[in-house]
Amino acid sequence: MSSREPIGVIGTGYVGLVTAVGFAELGSDVVCVDIDAGKVERLQRGEIPIYEPGLAELVEKNRERLTFTTDLSVALDRARLLFVAVGTPPTYSGDADLSAVHAVVNAMPASDRHALVMKSTVPVGTGEAIKRVFEEQGKSGFRYVSCPEFLKEGSAIDDFLDPDRVVIGDEGGWAGDAVTELYRPVLTPELGGSKRGELVRTDIKSAEMVKLASNAFLATKISFINEIANVCEETGADVVEVAKGMGLDDRIGSKFLKAGIGFGGSCFPKDVNALKQLAGNSGYHFQLLNAVIEVNELQKRRVIGKLQKNLGSLVGKRIALLGLAFKPETDDMREASSLVLSARLIADGAEVVGYDPIAAEEAGKLLKGVELAGSASEALAGADAVVLVTEWPEFKELDLAAVASSMRGNVFIDGRNLLDGDAARSAGLVYEGIGRGYAPQADVPAGSSL
Ligand code: UDX
Repeated sequence: MSSREPIGVIGTGYVGLVTAVGFAELGSDVVCVDIDAGKVERLQRGEIPIYEPGLAELVEKNRERLTFTTDLSVALDRARLLFVAVGTPPTYSGDADLSAVHAVVNAMPASDRHALVMKSTVPVGTGEAIKRVFEEQGKSGFRYVSCPEFLKEGSAIDDFLDPDRVVIGDEGGWAGDAVTELYRPVLTPELGGSKRGELVRTDIKSAEMVKLASNAFLATKISFINEIANVCEETGADVVEVAKGMGLDDRIGSKFLKAGIGFGGSCFPKDVNALKQLAGNSGYHFQLLNAVIEVNELQKRRVIGKLQKNLGSLVGKRIALLGLAFKPETDDMREASSLVLSARLIADGAEVVGYDPIAAEEAGKLLKGVELAGSASEALAGADAVVLVTEWPEFKELDLAAVASSMRGNVFIDGRNLLDGDAARSAGLVYEGIGRGYAPQADVPAGSSL
C-alpha cells in the first residue's frame, strides 16, 4: 500500500489512461473505471487500446497500482478524488456534448467525503452547473475541482510528468488542496521535473477558460502562419525562413509556427469551435475564431489546387497519401487532414492510395474508397503524384531517386515541409512544399511603392 493518496479515474481514453498511469508512477493506487466492459477486459489483460509512446511500458511497470473495472463503487470505496476523463465530443451546433459528463455526475452518491476532479475539456460554467445539479440531487457535500489537461498526443507521458503548468480551479477546501498535493512531485524541480511547472490555483471558471483559450490561441498561431505561407507563395518568400526570423522574438516564440496543411486532432478543431459557440451563446461574437476555423478548412483544400496545377484534371490520376494520422506518433485519425483531402480527391475522380506506419487500422475504418498500402514504397509505386500529409520520421529517410523511378508521374507535394526541396528536385521530382516561395523572383516585389 502506497503512502500517496489513492485516486479514481473515470474514462480510459487518452486523457484518462495517461492521468491514471501518471499518478500511479508518482506512487498512487489508481482505480480506472470505464463503462466499456470489453475495453476494461483488454486493459486487465495488459492490452493498451491506443498507441502512445511509453504508455504500455508504464502501465506494465505500475500494474500493481492499477485496477481496471466497470464498477464505480470500487473507486468510491478506495478513493476520495474521482478524476473525470470522459469524452466531450462536438455536437452538430459546435457545442460540447456533455452527456457522458452528466452521466458521471448522476451516478455519484450523496457524500461529504468525495470530490469530482474535471479533466475533460468542458465549457466555462460547467463546474457551476454541476454544483447546482449536486445541490438539486441532495449531494451538496460533493466537492468539485476543475483541473484541465494540456497533454499532447505523442508526448503525453512526458507532458504529464514534466508539465509547463498545472491549473487547479476550486473554491478552497480540502479537495483543491488534495489535488495540489498529488501534483506536487511534478511541480517541484528537485523531484525530477525539468520545466519547473508552475501551479495556477484559481477559481473554477478561470481554470475552465485557461484550457479553451490556450487551445484557441495555439490554433490561431497555426492558422496565422498558414496564411503567411500562402502570402509567401504569392510573393516568393520562404515561410520556413520567415517563421525562424519571427520565432526568435521571445514575445512570439518559435513553437507552433510550422506551416502545413492545417491542424487536426481531438482538441483544436473541437475546442476552437466550442469557445466560439460558448462566446456566441453568451452574446459575444468571437470574430477571430471564425477566421481561424475558415483558414484551416481552406488550408486542407489548397493541396488540391497544387495537384491540379501540376496534373491538370485529377480524373483517373493515382494519388498517394503518405501519413494519415492527424500528426506523427499517434494512431488518432480525429479531424485528420487526410480525411478531407482523400474525400476531395475521390470526389474529383482520383484514385487514392494511403500509407501510415501506425494509423492504418484506424484509417481503414474512416477512409472510404481509399486503398491502404503496407509500406511507403508500395503506396508510391505507380502514383502520378504524392502528398506527404503527416510528418512521420520514416518519410525523412525516403530514397528520393527510388521514389522518382517507382512513380508513374513525378509530382511530390510536401504538406509538412519535411523534405529537402533541392534534394527532391535533383532526384527528378517536381517538388512543392507549403509557402516555400516558388513565385518568380521579380526585381521589384508586387505592390511595392519603390
Ligand atoms: C493539443 C494541445 O497541444 C494540447 O495542449 C491539448 O491538451 C490537446 O490539443 P494535440 O491535439 O495532441 O494537442 O496535438 P498538437 O501537437 O498540439 O498538434 C495539433 C495539430 O496542429 C496537429 O494537426 C499538428 O499537425 C498541427 N500543427 C502543430 C501545425 O500544423 N503546426 C504547428 O506548428 C504545430
